[in-house]
Amino acid sequence: MLEIVIRALLLTLGVALLAAAPADAQRIRTGDPVRGSIVNGTDAGGPIAYQVALVEAEGGSPKFPFEVFCAGTIRDPTHVITAAHCLADLDAPDLAVVANLYRTGVRTNTEVVPVAAVTTHPSWPAGGNDLGILTLAGALTKGTAAPLVSANETMTGRPGLISGWGLLSDEGAIPDALQQAPVSVYADSACRRYGSDYVAATMLCAGGTSPGGTVDACQGDSGGPLVLTDTLSKTLAGIVSFGVGCADPDFPGVYTRLANPDLNARALAADPPARAIPNGLPTVTGTPATGQTLTCDPGTWTGSPALSFVWLSALINAAGEPYDVRADGTAQQLTLSSAMARRVVTCDVIAVNAGGTRTIQARVVGPVATAPTVVQGTAQSTPAAATPAASGGTPLDLTAPVARVTRRSCAKRRCTLTITARDSGGPATSARAVYRRLTGCAKGRRGKRCRADHTIAAKRAGTGLFVVRTPRLAIARYRFTVTAKDASGNVSRPATLSLSVPRR
Ligand code: ARG
Repeated sequence: MLEIVIRALLLTLGVALLAAAPADAQRIRTGDPVRGSIVNGTDAGGPIAYQVALVEAEGGSPKFPFEVFCAGTIRDPTHVITAAHCLADLDAPDLAVVANLYRTGVRTNTEVVPVAAVTTHPSWPAGGNDLGILTLAGALTKGTAAPLVSANETMTGRPGLISGWGLLSDEGAIPDALQQAPVSVYADSACRRYGSDYVAATMLCAGGTSPGGTVDACQGDSGGPLVLTDTLSKTLAGIVSFGVGCADPDFPGVYTRLANPDLNARALAADPPARAIPNGLPTVTGTPATGQTLTCDPGTWTGSPALSFVWLSALINAAGEPYDVRADGTAQQLTLSSAMARRVVTCDVIAVNAGGTRTIQARVVGPVATAPTVVQGTAQSTPAAATPAASGGTPLDLTAPVARVTRRSCAKRRCTLTITARDSGGPATSARAVYRRLTGCAKGRRGKRCRADHTIAAKRAGTGLFVVRTPRLAIARYRFTVTAKDASGNVSRPATLSLSVPRR
């Protein structure tokens, strides 16, 4: 079994992972009492000198108590290293860092500094590269910088420390006090269940166990540090990037690998180039009616980016949620064919300069009206949808979830599959499994029925978590094909596996 291979591997690394209890017993479930965290960490007892909190700040002053949405590490008094994904929808004027913070409800001794520029890795989100740098508007006087790991340093097997104000368990509580936990850097093979989502060159796989269970970062810890603790002073080697759920022993935390030479050089860049900033929302102009042409007006930008466009459309269900989201083109204009009737439309503007890529979506227009038969000379008659029915501005999500089967078992001839779906857009809202018998069916016509596909809808068991239970099956081998879908109708690529139903 795969798990056993991974366990053996980790144990040879000297990591006492999964040693005591079977994986299931260690899973952190919603509502489980958690003593401390990150997940299964402990209260840091005070600020961590190199760690800052990222907070939103209109006009430089954040809300209090601080609402920490991500973290960062001090590189020097005017630069903070964080994750690019923390900065996807936020620009320098929206951001501040809080140094010397311990409890989010206590501002005494903290220092708030606004952000002057945001830089994200030019390739991100491609190939991992989840690196962001903040150039601060003033110099920090509190906190101390963490030195950066050297390029090409070997990471596997090294001890580290993670810390943050993120969730105490998957879908769990938000702590008030900074949490920390020791972890080990795992071999890349420990993250193999992520498949191609795990890019070994730009990512690190790390985790640990404590008496309370599996140790991991969780939502809200992103951008924060993984420092090495086998160095004289703690050295920044990883940035909290992503995971499937939190503290799932099958899916350790994934961190940005700062020993990658390219990431290392960029993290050290003396003057990181500023990413472009939109001066306002882009707008869709024109009449949303079939036969008409819409234009994506990108508005004005600071930082001279190169602009490109993606048109998106969707249908709206009774609840006002978009579904069946589609990409319709990449030109600045879109002519509305009759196939666009009743769909709402928007455009993404993608702005690229040396400081990274900033994507921003226009307000949704439509639904697209069916063009009236225009009588010559009365062209002024307004088509029904000339006043766009504002569709609530729900962003149209074009990212399909990634579904994986993370647990499987067959007992008493019934099989149970746990499906974990990750989605950087909206979370997966449904999943299903299609199964087909592979063995023991007669050849020919009768066998055909035996080999037919059966579909089972999955039960939702949490955010991005689904469980499928089959009826009693014949003793045979089956192939399962699993897919997950989000609210916008984006369907994951199928994940397949085969399972044998044993005699007992
Ligand atoms: N992406 C998450 C965030 O935005 C961090 C997730 C880390 N998850 C994990 N299981 N290690 O905060």
